[in-house]
Amino acid sequence: MISLRVEPPSALPYDVHVGRDSSLLVNQSVPEGVSKVFVVSQENIPRVDLSLDADVFFSYVENGEAAKSLSVAGNLLEQMSKLSLGRNDLVLAIGGGVVSDLGGFVASVYLRGIRYQTISTTLLGQIDASIGGKTGVNLPTGKNLVGSFWHPSSVYCDTAMLDSLDEREFKSGLGEMVKYEFLGASGLSLTSLEDSIARCVSLKADFVKEDEREGGRRALLNYGHTFGHALESLGILGAIDRITHGEAVAKGIRFAAHLAHLLGRIDDRGLDEHYEVLSKFSLDISIPMSVTIDEVLPFIVRDKKSRGSITFVLAQSHGEPSVVRDISTNDLEAALQALHRYS
Ligand SMILES: NC(=O)c1ccc[n+]([C@@H]2O[C@H](COP(=O)([O-])OP(=O)(O)OC[C@H]3O[C@@H](n4cnc5c(N)ncnc54)[C@H](O)[C@@H]3O)[C@@H](O)[C@H]2O)c1
Repeated sequence: MISLRVEPPSALPYDVHVGRDSSLLVNQSVPEGVSKVFVVSQENIPRVDLSLDADVFFSYVENGEAAKSLSVAGNLLEQMSKLSLGRNDLVLAIGGGVVSDLGGFVASVYLRGIRYQTISTTLLGQIDASIGGKTGVNLPTGKNLVGSFWHPSSVYCDTAMLDSLDEREFKSGLGEMVKYEFLGASGLSLTSLEDSIARCVSLKADFVKEDEREGGRRALLNYGHTFGHALESLGILGAIDRITHGEAVAKGIRFAAHLAHLLGRIDDRGLDEHYEVLSKFSLDISIPMSVTIDEVLPFIVRDKKSRGSITFVLAQSHGEPSVVRDISTNDLEAALQALHRYS
């Protein structure tokens, strides 16, 4: 087991425990003063052997993004109130990114904020969603539009939980993992799963310590997300086959590599390297020929980094990627054409 510390500037430091059966540590880590634990989870998520020195109440939410809604959050808050959870009590989110975003959000607003912990059960959750303090729910107009920064008091990345994760969801996590390869954690596909998760957690913790509110460097964690989110949205709307978040990120990294190449930020070698790294994770990085820049543009312009102009995180030959603004639609078009020609 590997334990790492996250030190957010605005909150108490907390530990992330990575390894098989690390979730059992929760039984020894209930904070002082907790008399009730409100567990938020989903029916299909493997059960954790909880033996907590507190009254434990379970609430199961539906699967998928639909659970990240104001109505589901409101329902959970009412349950917490009816159970008379107090300021000293605890929310325990057991699940992937959907459950940790939702559980963290209700913990952050109930009685103006109570403690929460997460047992993260998906690869994507373990390397990304459970760390960094972003919690939230969706609105019909977009993902994660309502939320808060609220840090857990402990995170358990139990790798045994990943045994029951279906292959597509596991690969979704790998799609998110690829971005860390370009942010300073190379060779992740060559090491043990526990080690690669821990390295991602450690890198994300560094970003959070330096830029908790995403005013600067933390935005680099969105590498591959601008074009990726647009594809994900097209999938939700039914314009292309539905894709997972991690699948979208991997495809988005491929697009970003071509855009960086076109803009002269990386050379041929840099472009080839992107393909080499993506291939090590055996991900499907195909982008349907039917996708046009006109279709993805509205999502790219609404991206949270955009501030009204077309903005991408792009690689450069020397140093880490950086945020690039005022990209033209012609460049996007040319990058997409180049991507389809590349072999
Ligand atoms: N807060 C953040 O910083 C952050 C970062 C990245 C992503 N996210 C959010 O995370 C969410 C995606 O998270 P996700 O990819 O974990 O998806 P998810 O939480 O929807 O889980 C994927 C599926 O796997 C199932 N599942 C979870 N654990 C399982 C297990 N151990 N065995 C079998 N099935 C299991 C779930 O029930 C679900 O059906 C999105 O809403 C995204 O916005 C948040």
